[in-house]
Formats: sequence, C-alpha cells, structure tokens
Amino acid sequence: MALLEVKNLRVHFEIQGGWVKAVDGISFSIDSGQTMGLVGESGCGKTTAAYAITQLLPNNAYIKSGQILYRGRDLLSISKKPDGRLDDYNEEIRKIRWKEISMIFQGAMNAFNPVFKVGDQIIEAIQLHEDVNHVTAEARAKELFSFVGIPEDRIKNYPHEFSGGMKQRAMIALALALSPSFVIADEPTTALDVITQDRILFEIKKLQEQLDMAMMIITHDVSVVAEVSEKIAVMYAGRIMEIGTTVQVFKNTAHPYTAGLLGSFPSIEGPRRRLESIPGFPPDLVNPPSGCPFHPRCKYAKDVCAKQVPGGIELEPSHISYCIFANELRDKLNRGG
Ligand SMILES: Nc1ncnc2c1ncn2[C@@H]1O[C@H](COP(=O)(O)OP(=O)(O)O)[C@@H](O)[C@H]1O
Ligand SMILES: [Mg+2]
Repeated sequence: MALLEVKNLRVHFEIQGGWVKAVDGISFSIDSGQTMGLVGESGCGKTTAAYAITQLLPNNAYIKSGQILYRGRDLLSISKKPDGRLDDYNEEIRKIRWKEISMIFQGAMNAFNPVFKVGDQIIEAIQLHEDVNHVTAEARAKELFSFVGIPEDRIKNYPHEFSGGMKQRAMIALALALSPSFVIADEPTTALDVITQDRILFEIKKLQEQLDMAMMIITHDVSVVAEVSEKIAVMYAGRIMEIGTTVQVFKNTAHPYTAGLLGSFPSIEGPRRRLESIPGFPPDLVNPPSGCPFHPRCKYAKDVCAKQVPGGIELEPSHISYCIFANELRDKLNRGG
C-alpha cells in the first residue's frame, strides 16, 4: 500500500468574479521512504497541492473532488465540510499534521517568530504534540540542531542571529522534530545561494534516508529534483502532464511540456540540451485553455489538442503522459527536436 495516494484532487479558490482552478484533477502516489519531485513553473498549483495534503488551505479554497489517502485513510473524509472547505480545527488532522505529515515551507526564512529564541520555538512544537518535559524536549532540540548541522549552543539564539542557510536548517529541524513519516519540502532552498542550496538539499536527502521518511520535494527547478528524487510529477495549469521514475521522465520524456522544462535548465550531465525557455505565457487559471491546457504554447499541438482533455497514456509501467500524441512524439522529444 502506498503511504500517500492522491486521487483526482481538485482544489479551486473562490475569488471575485470566478474560480481559480489551482489544482484540477491530480493523481499520484508515494511509497514509504520514497521521494517524489513535484515540478512545474511558478503558479501551476504546487503549493496548493501541498497545502491540501497538510490541510493548511486558506479559507477561500474549496475541495471540488478527490481523495487524499494517507496509510489508506482518506484525510478529506475526516475534515472536509459539506461546502468543500476544510475544518481548520479538526482534532484528528491536528494530530496527524507535524507528527505524521510535516512541511518545510516555501519562504522558510520568515517561519520563525522574531521575538522568541529559535530553540524555544522548536521545544514548544515538541511539547505541543508529545507529553515530554522541558528537559527532554530541549535535549531533542539540541540533537536535531546537530543533526541538521547547527552547533547545539545556537539553540539560545534569536532568528535574526542566524544566517539564511542556518534559518533554513532550523526550519528543517522543526519539520523533523516529531519524526514524521512524510515530509513535504516546498522550494526548500530557493531563497539561498546556489552553493548553500546544493549542500542543504543533499543534507535533506541524507536525513530523509537516515530517518526513512517519504518526501515530496516541490520546485520549479528540474535540476534540483533530478539528484534527489526517485520519481517525478510534472505539473502545468493545475494538472499533471507527465509522471514516472526520474529516469523515465528525464531519459524517455513523453510530454512536450516536460521537454520544454528540461530545455530551460542546464543539464546535470553536460550539454545534452540547449538552454531555452518555453515561449508564450503561463495560463489563466480562471479561464484555463480548453482541451490540453498546454496546447497554446505547444509547438506540436494539433486541432484535437484544443478539444480533447488528454487521458493518461501509460508508456511503460509507472510512466504516464497526459499528451494525446505521447507515443508519436517520444523520439522527437528525446532528440532535442
Ligand atoms: N488564496 C488564494 N486565492 C486565490 N488564488 C490563489 C490563492 N492562493 C494561490 N492562488 C492562485 O492559485 C494558483 C496556484 O498557486 P500556487 O499553488 O501557489 O502555485 P505554485 O506553488 O506552483 O507556484 C496561482 O494562480 C495563484 O495565484
Ligand atoms: Mg509555491
């Protein structure tokens, strides 16, 4: 059984004059101990998907369909109100959040309250969820600090006394404080310089392996996920375009959007692909394009692409493309054409 299985999840935001279809029918699963990368350009719905799983959606978010099965149990059946919004105060979900499913936030730089010591904030989080005394919680916080590479005596410092990289590490310590089985890391290194990014990413990966956690790494940068994920889901306009093992998606690309995304970043294995960005504009999620949402930007699009929503085509076990012409295009996409 998968640890997490998301089935046909749709999350729409109500705004004045319409609905933002931020997540519009995504399905994927993650096994215990496995890492999946969720990639796609900014605004395609990655964070919304993460907030649905951790049940931290804002008040104008409505679950329009789907299931979020965690250890086989649908979290939405616990917390979804009749109107489709989530019950923020649901006790059962609160027990699962942080302790079972935890999250390293995008923009973690500001995750800590500036007026309290970083260590105290971690100790408080531990004591909120576990019946341990202050001494035990402090010992755990110190252990976590050294685990993520921060000197233990830094536990007495305030957030402003930490560098950006250290704050990020402290955020990771906070996310791991309750030994969760599943961690979502939302652009965990985006705010950092490239060298620190690489180091922290590898450290997250190492910790994930040591602790045998499953993880979902969210990023707009495909080169980030290649190195740390076994599996990749490529998202565009609230939907998944292609999903498969990292090798399948990179070596046997089967969606024009994935090919465009890979072409936008330098290859980690040398100059196989040239650097180019995808022409055109990101879609309007209030009035998304008909048929395949990528068709207005796709250089291979045919008439049918504007009319028909692609069902998934399974190219090989575990590798699915949501492009009508996936089979026909594979050779072209992998020759850089
Ligand atoms: N609370 C909200 N109300 C209305 N629209 C929102 C809200 N939060 C996010 N959105 C919109 O939903 C879409 C997906 O956003 P997000 O999930 O943050 O994307 P990503 O993380 O991939 O950059 C974007 O168009 C964004 O503007
Ligand atoms: Mg985001």
